[in-house]
Amino acid sequence: MSHAGLTAASPSHGLDGDLHLDHYGGGRLPFVSLGGRGVRLRLAERGGAGEPFEVIDASGGYASACLGAGHPAVLRALTRAVTDLGYATDEIESAERTRLLAGTLGSGGLWCDHFPPGDYHAAGRNSGSEGMELALRLVLESRYDHRRLRPDPERGGRDLVLAFQGAWHGWTGALTPLLNRRHFRVGLPQIAADGPYGLAVEHLPFGVLEPLLEFFARDGERLLAVVVEPIQGDAGLLVPPPGYLRTLAALAAEHGALLVADEVLTFAKTGRFFAMADEYGPIPTDVTVIGKSLGMGVLSTSMVIARRSLAVRPSGAVATSDLRPLTCAVIHDGLRLIEEEELLERSAELGAQLAGLLDREVLDRFPGTYRGLRGTGLLQGLELAEDAADRLRDLRSSIIRAGCYVEFMAGAGRRSHGLPYVFPTMRVAPPLVTSPAELEELVAAIQRGTARFLGDGR
Ligand SMILES: Cc1ncc(COP(=O)(O)O)c(C=O)c1O
Repeated sequence: MSHAGLTAASPSHGLDGDLHLDHYGGGRLPFVSLGGRGVRLRLAERGGAGEPFEVIDASGGYASACLGAGHPAVLRALTRAVTDLGYATDEIESAERTRLLAGTLGSGGLWCDHFPPGDYHAAGRNSGSEGMELALRLVLESRYDHRRLRPDPERGGRDLVLAFQGAWHGWTGALTPLLNRRHFRVGLPQIAADGPYGLAVEHLPFGVLEPLLEFFARDGERLLAVVVEPIQGDAGLLVPPPGYLRTLAALAAEHGALLVADEVLTFAKTGRFFAMADEYGPIPTDVTVIGKSLGMGVLSTSMVIARRSLAVRPSGAVATSDLRPLTCAVIHDGLRLIEEEELLERSAELGAQLAGLLDREVLDRFPGTYRGLRGTGLLQGLELAEDAADRLRDLRSSIIRAGCYVEFMAGAGRRSHGLPYVFPTMRVAPPLVTSPAELEELVAAIQRGTARFLGDGR
């Protein structure tokens, strides 16, 4: 057999289907992406029917493309990195890494109000999941006395992790038990039996104080760590009531449990860098994991920011991906752009505009299709009504054909303590660089797509 190899590959529309592992059980979208620029993507029907068409991207690459596609600042950072920065692993100091870390976590750094300088250190990983794995590893190592090489007398017996119903923290082995979704675990014996690394996991409903207080009174002394998304993403963009996260942090600190904030999704999406904050300011955490937008839409990367007292045993978590110069250059230059152009402040305003538009133009008009709107900043969620949830894929395709690329979160489903069921929720999370006019266009497309889905031809 002759091998034509890569030269023979033709960019025909939608012929990779059988080669790319299908994570959706045959339910992949019937479109092909042909490319994109700014907040617009060019799509075609899979199989080649019809002309290619343009959509506004309200998904932003699973909420990771904060600067849209092809931003010149990202291109300059990549060019600078590839041309000049070479390689440096985590065993040697890198000037580019120091520049990033000093500029963010050092004295006077961009994030110093959140992480008091001198109290925290950070590491990089390839993905949100890997960042969360490292966070768990740090939690686990806190039970161990590295100097005496034996369990820590105070922490060694702690064997419980608190997570929340509907949580989403990633797919890797140690993270799956943190998701209280049997569907994802059943039939996988190695991760079904115990929690991460053999720790037990308890799931509480998110945002409700009473079960939290009961839990801490009962099991606080056993608790090793709390793992929380400050706004639950996959659960349906659930925003906790005021005061909840601060109470959670206080309870964890009081009982000696480590607080791990999963800000992989929320980083730079809520009108501020970190969603672990309230009207009184930042809410302290022991470990914060950020990802998605951190890679400025071109890299899959994450950062784990942990108290200096948390560490792994020597060589315990060495990684090829730990804050490479290229990664640091992209993050550094992207953050500088966000700061200089005040994109977070702007996104808080845009978020208010987006929420208003979605409320008036979509939620109010289609009460049989959508039943709730929630969110903060450019991270908004429209929860589906039950009937529409049953035909989610058709609704989504219709909205995409109408000109807006949206995605759906699974929803928290059934929850305890009499809390309402949460149906799948449309995530509307366009890049920070979206203009007010593009927001209007995007909402108009959601409206058009919904009307077509309902068949009224509006
Ligand atoms: C809150 C949260 N944590 C972790 C992850 C996992 O990140 P990744 O897909 O980069 O592994 C995600 C991804 O959707 C997420 O939303």
